[in-house]
Amino acid sequence: MPKSDKYESLEPLADGTIPYSSTDHSMWERLYRRQMEVIDGRATPEYIQGMELLGFTANEIPQHNAINSKLSAITGWQVEAVPAIIPATEFFSLLSRKRFPAACFIRDEQDMDYIQEPDIFHEVFGHCPLLTNQAYADFMEQFGKMASESTAQERKILFRLFWFTIEFGLIKRPEGLRIYGGGILSSPEETLHALKAGPPKHEPFDVLNVLRTPFRIDILQPLYYVIDDFDDLYTILEKDLPSLIAKAEEMGDFSPLFPPKKKS
Ligand code: CO
Repeated sequence: MPKSDKYESLEPLADGTIPYSSTDHSMWERLYRRQMEVIDGRATPEYIQGMELLGFTANEIPQHNAINSKLSAITGWQVEAVPAIIPATEFFSLLSRKRFPAACFIRDEQDMDYIQEPDIFHEVFGHCPLLTNQAYADFMEQFGKMASESTAQERKILFRLFWFTIEFGLIKRPEGLRIYGGGILSSPEETLHALKAGPPKHEPFDVLNVLRTPFRIDILQPLYYVIDDFDDLYTILEKDLPSLIAKAEEMGDFSPLFPPKKKS
């Protein structure tokens, strides 16, 4: 899909440090504080724990090096600096090698509420805390392997599994529904929206149903799929996905719960 070329990823220095500016750090601080207010009691506790394990603070954008020294000891994952736009095949290949691609730029004032390109706030704040969770991390790795071996057509369907878990997943907890998807946890509006008592719809995670569910990336999601436990992520990828993808294609997509995107 076309993306603006407004942002460029910073090149890490020779020692791996990413030269963020003071404006970048203060944007992080604003986004961080705003988000911490809304995720309390809404994010799944494993996410909050992960944030503590990685030592995130409002003061500065965490450096990849600092995250990596902690993550490698916990789940063996690494965050890798990449350009703002990378080919899908490279994205999946990195995941399959336990490398989480993160472009090194942060949104500006104008895009404070919504940015289509995943910036460092989305990647690091949204996803890295749960890379400390073994099931989440293993799911990413296995997903990357599977996507790398799929055709472009299969990948389009397969990617829905990633979308409705890693990006927009909810999890059932004894205390109620909680959020683990990074696309939700990096957006204040979506964090509040996702847990509202319908609409949006909350459906149990069923692999075939997920594979048949179209989505739009530029709206609040009308539907979230709910897992019971992080271990459910293992069972998703243990299924015979090539047959399920074929079945999903044969049965066709569910009617979208959203209006078609206006052509610009
Ligand atoms: Co993401």
